[in-house]
Amino acid sequence: MKYVQSGALKPGMISLKSIYDKRGVCLLAANHELTAGIIKQLMIMEFPGLYIYDEYSEYEDLTEILDEKTRLEAMNALKTMNIDRVLYLSTEITEQLLSVEELMIDFKDLKIYHNDTYAHSLNVAMLATTCGIGLGMNNYDLQELCASAMLHDIGKRGINREILDKPGKLTPEEREIINQHPAIGYNMMYDNPAITTRARMGILLHHENWDGSGYPRGIQGDRIPLYARIIHVADVYDAMCQKRAYKEDYDPKECVEYLMANSGTMFDLHIVENFIHYLTIYPVGTDVMLSTGQKARVIKNRAKSVLRPVVMLEDKTILDLAKDRNTYNITIVGYDKVFLEGKDLEPAEVEESADVEESAESGLNSDSELADSELDLESGLESEAD
Ligand SMILES: [Fe+2]
Repeated sequence: MKYVQSGALKPGMISLKSIYDKRGVCLLAANHELTAGIIKQLMIMEFPGLYIYDEYSEYEDLTEILDEKTRLEAMNALKTMNIDRVLYLSTEITEQLLSVEELMIDFKDLKIYHNDTYAHSLNVAMLATTCGIGLGMNNYDLQELCASAMLHDIGKRGINREILDKPGKLTPEEREIINQHPAIGYNMMYDNPAITTRARMGILLHHENWDGSGYPRGIQGDRIPLYARIIHVADVYDAMCQKRAYKEDYDPKECVEYLMANSGTMFDLHIVENFIHYLTIYPVGTDVMLSTGQKARVIKNRAKSVLRPVVMLEDKTILDLAKDRNTYNITIVGYDKVFLEGKDLEPAEVEESADVEESAESGLNSDSELADSELDLESGLESEAD
């Protein structure tokens, strides 16, 4: 399996996964042979790339951590604002993730749909719930966290689409408008008795930074509720993985290093330390160079051994760099940077893309003043959870 950017696709290649447009309409089925017409259409739609079968695919671990039906239903529930369905699907997603034998989030699990807020929300829900599983949360908390993550950007429905999709730098006024989305989302969910206080606070405070430089409140440390701290990390990680109108994507290693470099300032160090155990540095399908001088393909990743995947040499010999003691002296010294093609951005621009600029006035309306008392309540619940 290879991730091939749209500009490098060729007729005759076979798609590994189905892809969908922003409305959830299937554009291309899995196992479908590409034609020049299909490739042209993908280019016109600025579809970033596809996963394509190749000679290693039969050996690769292509397990889906979430089934396609659940993904589509979740995106549809978000689009139609069917909150009861979102809550039901949070349970479903949590159960599916808990049932995965060796839980890892591969890039292929995130780069599936045409980029939009709903696909991003689902990715953040998967990432946040996985982090919660790593932190040992119980099922109820995981479902609550998953629902909060699914709904974290629901307030963007109240923001002008032109500002949300604007390529290039935002003006201070536009930035201030976008920064209102957590409060808008919080208010949208305020009257819904099915959304718990903790889930709602995850929505309101998912752009708070550990050092107090976030928004809308500028609170810091463990005054920021646990769900909000987790969703913040998941949100920034997924934003970095995706190619958007205003930025290129980053490769897996850069994304992880960005999280680590900003732990203790933007992020809770404890959460980042846990989170990175479940992220792939060398996703399945990555071509790597070994310290032995041999070329190899990553065919499987192992949870908590992210630097030591299972690889296949060109002669189809399999090396398990994490479990086979005979391979302990072999390291990965280089990797295929397909994800980096065309990339020339600096990390500073990521901050903007992930809405992590300086804190701004929240624009909370009178309903949101209630969030102050909820925050106190939340802090109490938090210490119980910890
Ligand atoms: Fe957000």
